[in-house]
Amino acid sequence: MCRTRASPGTRMLCLTAGRLGTLLSRRAVAALGTTTARMCSHVSQQADMSLPMYWDRRDIPLPDRPYNDSLTATEKTLKQKEKGPWNILSNEEKLALYRIMFKDTYAEMKKPSSEWKTVLGGLFFFIGLTGLVVLWQRIYVYPHPPHTFDEEWEAKQVKRMLDMRVNPVQGFSAKWDYEKGQWK
Ligand SMILES: *[C@@H]1O[C@H](CO)[C@@H](O)[C@H](O)[C@H]1NC(C)=O
Repeated sequence: MCRTRASPGTRMLCLTAGRLGTLLSRRAVAALGTTTARMCSHVSQQADMSLPMYWDRRDIPLPDRPYNDSLTATEKTLKQKEKGPWNILSNEEKLALYRIMFKDTYAEMKKPSSEWKTVLGGLFFFIGLTGLVVLWQRIYVYPHPPHTFDEEWEAKQVKRMLDMRVNPVQGFSAKWDYEKGQWK
């Protein structure tokens, strides 16, 4: 597969993965190794980056180069036959020629993928994880709320504000009925 190009980050990972292997036990880096090994072998196959690349895009019907340019002998003779009249080609030969030139058909490109489920699942997983961190902080990290937040304190504060007749025209005390002793 030469459709994806390794980023500088991937190359860094490959370098460090090699060094890690000498430091840690083989078993410890096995999981990391299988993924990076695939990426690193990809990097070593890396051809000249200035050459045209192949990619499947619906808005670009003709990629810059054929999908497969390492052909077998039969495929090469088929390519020669392609130069002649196309009505002597069988359907199988036409399909084979198509697959040499392109990786996916338009129908294959348009096929809906269920990757959104992974994305959404990952999103919810990390939101949930963040929620647990916040919960842990509320229990173990944050200080207790100040005593002025106590229910009893707040009740006393409301009583005092009413006694002081705070905002008696349109505000706080205006909502209190002093004769009945209740909120209006
Ligand atoms: C290109 O064709 C050869 C011969 O058929 C095959 O071995 C190889 O896997 C193909 N490469 C790709 C990228 O499909």
